[in-house]
Amino acid sequence: MPKKIVALAGDGIGPEIMGAGLEVLATVAKKVGFDYVVEEHAFGGAAIDQVGHPLPDQTLVACRTADAILLAAIGAPQYDNAAVRPEQGLLQLRKELGLFANIRPVKIFDSLKDYSPLKAERLDGVDLVMVRELTGGIYFGEHILETDQASDSNTYQVEEIERVVRSAFDLAQKRRKKVTSIDKQNVLATSKLWRKVAEEVGKDYPDVTLEHQLVDSAAMLLITNPSRFDVLVTENLFGDILSDEASVLTGTLGVLPSASHAVAGPSLYEPIHGSAPDIAGQGIANPVSMILSVAMMLEESFDLQVAGKIIRQAVEQTFDKGILTKDLGGSAMTSQMTAHIIEEIERSSL
Ligand SMILES: NC(=O)c1ccc[n+]([C@@H]2O[C@H](COP(=O)([O-])OP(=O)(O)OC[C@H]3O[C@@H](n4cnc5c(N)ncnc54)[C@H](O)[C@@H]3O)[C@@H](O)[C@H]2O)c1
Repeated sequence: MPKKIVALAGDGIGPEIMGAGLEVLATVAKKVGFDYVVEEHAFGGAAIDQVGHPLPDQTLVACRTADAILLAAIGAPQYDNAAVRPEQGLLQLRKELGLFANIRPVKIFDSLKDYSPLKAERLDGVDLVMVRELTGGIYFGEHILETDQASDSNTYQVEEIERVVRSAFDLAQKRRKKVTSIDKQNVLATSKLWRKVAEEVGKDYPDVTLEHQLVDSAAMLLITNPSRFDVLVTENLFGDILSDEASVLTGTLGVLPSASHAVAGPSLYEPIHGSAPDIAGQGIANPVSMILSVAMMLEESFDLQVAGKIIRQAVEQTFDKGILTKDLGGSAMTSQMTAHIIEEIERSSL
């Protein structure tokens, strides 16, 4: 039976890069014999325009019954002050599907080193993965805004911490076997619990080294010595901030994919960036973040390691030839970049 992939193109550059991702998927699927169907559904601002809500029931039902979900991006300036924002649809989708572990790999492409704000020698050996807790913490706590005061509550249950820390250790076992758990345990109660649980989980993984870093120190080390990290794991708020910081190392947001996993049910794959309204409709968006999200999906949801490798190699070869979109100082349009990657995939002997 063909695997069902739900595609949520969303807003801004979303439809442009989703198109690129699906073209690449079709090419690699043909090469490796992967049988699938794509169902496209409205999400985000596009869904507000159609039915008045960013996550229509029909879209949620389709996602629940999918084998994997591809999301491009959501958000547009016209909704900034709207009663319901596109971003609320994304928070709801993550919660409904229980997508508690957000995995964001940051790897520096050799031929892109000069585009990073960091000196090239600082980037040697940078290959890290940020694991961010995605369905708990302060984003899902009570938010009270009064005239003269405001508060946001941050709550974590032991099991919420345990399952995401375990995901980080499982990942580290397949990599360089080091986990950095990030907290603010000198101040926050949630962080004290986080550290205690991380220590307990670590006992089940004697082959993996566990270190703890305070979030402020981790923020500094990500810039001064990023190659020291292998797998980082942290709570929702810290992870949101640190994963954007880590993404800067690559020189553009346009090359970074992510995966979000649940205990059971479909995973969701999406670029880490937003809908880039400033460049939407111009055909200049970098499609690589979406294309690498497709690679992650093939590897992690369908165990098609070779398919993922073919895509990664094709992206690298395209960069090596100096074919770059505008965010990397090049002149290739989204469609040209995608066509070059597809050519490399077709030529691949893997
Ligand atoms: N998961 C998501 O869908 C998601 C994530 C973050 C922000 N957003 C939403 O996206 C909208 C825009 O937010 P923002 O401008 O702060 O962040 P953004 O990530 O959309 O854009 C930041 C900058 O990076 C550039 N950029 C991003 N992706 C690119 C790509 N693939 N190729 C070339 N350049 C790229 C943009 O042009 C912009 O200059 C907002 O509505 C925000 O809420 C959505």
